[in-house]
Amino acid sequence: MTVVTIADLRLAAKRKLPRAMFEFMDGGAGDERTRDANAADFGRIGFEPRMLVDVSRRSQAVRVLGQDLASPLVLAPTGGTGLFRPRAEELAAREAATAGIGYCLSTMGNTSIEEIAATGLPFWFQLYFQKDREVTRALVDRAAAAGCPVLVVTVDLPVQGPRERDVRNGFSMPPRVGPRTALDFVRRPGWLYRMATGPRLTFANFDGHRPQADKLTTLFKYVAEQFDPSASWDDLRWIRTLWRGRLAVKGILTATDALAAIECGADAIIVSNHGGRQLDDAPSAIGALPRIVDAVGDRAEVLLDGGVRRGSDVVKALAIGARACLVGRAFLYGLAAFGGPGVRQAIEILRQEIDVTQALLGCPDLAGIDSSFVSLAARDASRRSQAGTISSSPLAAACTP
Ligand code: FNR
Repeated sequence: MTVVTIADLRLAAKRKLPRAMFEFMDGGAGDERTRDANAADFGRIGFEPRMLVDVSRRSQAVRVLGQDLASPLVLAPTGGTGLFRPRAEELAAREAATAGIGYCLSTMGNTSIEEIAATGLPFWFQLYFQKDREVTRALVDRAAAAGCPVLVVTVDLPVQGPRERDVRNGFSMPPRVGPRTALDFVRRPGWLYRMATGPRLTFANFDGHRPQADKLTTLFKYVAEQFDPSASWDDLRWIRTLWRGRLAVKGILTATDALAAIECGADAIIVSNHGGRQLDDAPSAIGALPRIVDAVGDRAEVLLDGGVRRGSDVVKALAIGARACLVGRAFLYGLAAFGGPGVRQAIEILRQEIDVTQALLGCPDLAGIDSSFVSLAARDASRRSQAGTISSSPLAAACTP
């Protein structure tokens, strides 16, 4: 099949992965309305193109959290990525570095902080609060020792969201072979071969913390139980005292929380609903963006995360005020389908789409884009939500006849 778009990469990934793995990647929480709205709400924003602007030279370079990026893209932190390809984190970090964009390693990665650091590739680290605060502190210290410039604290996972597909599929890590899954696995011989011959799948950041006492508890279960539902803003303040680098808070969907995060010392707000994998019917990321941008002003950088499938989505987010976008599934589709070259292809598709959008929009320098390049719907939504008349998904509400 000819791959032209991220949607094509998604289909390729679907063909290559067993159903349980593909649905773990592609699925969302509950009825998946928020997952779907993340992408669909980009379609509700129109462009206001300018003609006869010299667009013969175009730049999509931006500065994000003290780093110069060739494109406004960061590969989002994703756990369990080794289920799609062995050494997935290293493959993705390498492609990101080659493309001059950011890469963020997850707490739940299958490669440890130290293993990625040993490759010499630059990376950010994403932290989940652990019930054991000494484990939390150790993760922060390890990221600092590895020379990580940015710590991303994900705050939207007090407990795991209801991923019903995963329950139906009997999804687990490492994958369990049962009567239902065996046929599915055998039908994907390439994947099966790679899993059988690749390194042992583990939550590498927790390898030293295997539950000794309870031998029946799998590492998967142990790690899933370590998410801390008691985490509060005080804990974020505590992280700020531990971490000297830049601090980004991921999973913010309201202006109030954005301001609270800044008060705790955040340098960046990542507007995100975890790709629609946590609270279904939470606002779409692009829907929540305008009022957060308005509330934050220049007190922190704002990044958008969720639903990016087109370069034009990235341009819209930047026009509304995001500094850059995180992309999750877009790169995972490429990774699952074709490994490192697939990640490269995903990045290249987005870059080329950003580039042609800039040319047709009359915006040669993406760093200088503003909200005059997007349609009234987006700006009206932002104003109305500022006035407090819209409580969720302002873009969607503004565009509803
Ligand atoms: C994620 N995401 C995520 N986020 C995080 O902070 N830590 C994590 O370990 C994970 N793990 C994870 C696994 C998988 C398979 C997916 C698809 C997502 C969420 C991720 O960082 C990001 O917020 C979303 O993927 C953004 O939405 P899109 O770009 O996938 O639409």
